[in-house]
Amino acid sequence: MLIIVLFVLFASTFACEDFPNGTATAVHTFQCNGPNPTFELVSAKIMDSEGHQNYPIDLSKPIVFHYDIINHANHSFDNLRSDSEFDEWFSGWLGCYWLPLPTFGVLDNTNPCELGNSCPVKSGPTVIETHVDLSQIAAVLNAITSHHPTQFTVHLKDNTNPNQQVELACVSWQMQFTKDGKYLTAAKLLKH
Ligand SMILES: *[C@@H]1O[C@H](CO)[C@@H](O)[C@H](O)[C@H]1NC(C)=O
Ligand SMILES: *[C@@H]1O[C@H](CO)[C@@H](O)[C@H](O)[C@H]1NC(C)=O
Repeated sequence: MLIIVLFVLFASTFACEDFPNGTATAVHTFQCNGPNPTFELVSAKIMDSEGHQNYPIDLSKPIVFHYDIINHANHSFDNLRSDSEFDEWFSGWLGCYWLPLPTFGVLDNTNPCELGNSCPVKSGPTVIETHVDLSQIAAVLNAITSHHPTQFTVHLKDNTNPNQQVELACVSWQMQFTKDGKYLTAAKLLKH
């Protein structure tokens, strides 16, 4: 019996990767909502403010999330909101999993139209870019995540009717962050 348990533990650890989806060397992006999303993700990249794609991602500096999408609706959108969450990758003795990290609601109900020049998002093939400074979050993330890969998931919603937001796209980014820059502790951020 013990041997079987040990074998199962060993097998599940063996199947685990420290850096899933190639996150040791590059950002991995994918659409995370169901079939036929209104905004179909074609490709995506993260750049610094000069347009360079560096890896790992240095969160102590402003970054640009660039999405090439196809807007399948027959109209444009200019009233959007996004909710985002972070997960940290754990792999080890007991298997591997994404663990949600606390973001204290700071990434909820943000207005992507205020973070760039992408609105209105026109019908057909188009680009959405959001310029964000996550350095405050970076402090908390780095305190918690050390060298583990992190997953950043963005839910983009139509806010035409704020009481009935409709999800247009869900995009997950899996990547590693650098530990450069200045970091606050989680406790300090909470006091802000
Ligand atoms: C790797 O990426 C695919 C999509 O490309 C996703 O379905 C899968 O869940 C990812 N694996 C992990 C461990 O997150
Ligand atoms: C968009 O317009 C095309 C052509 O007029 C039509 O075939 C299609 O059903 C429309 N799509 C939606 C979502 O209304």
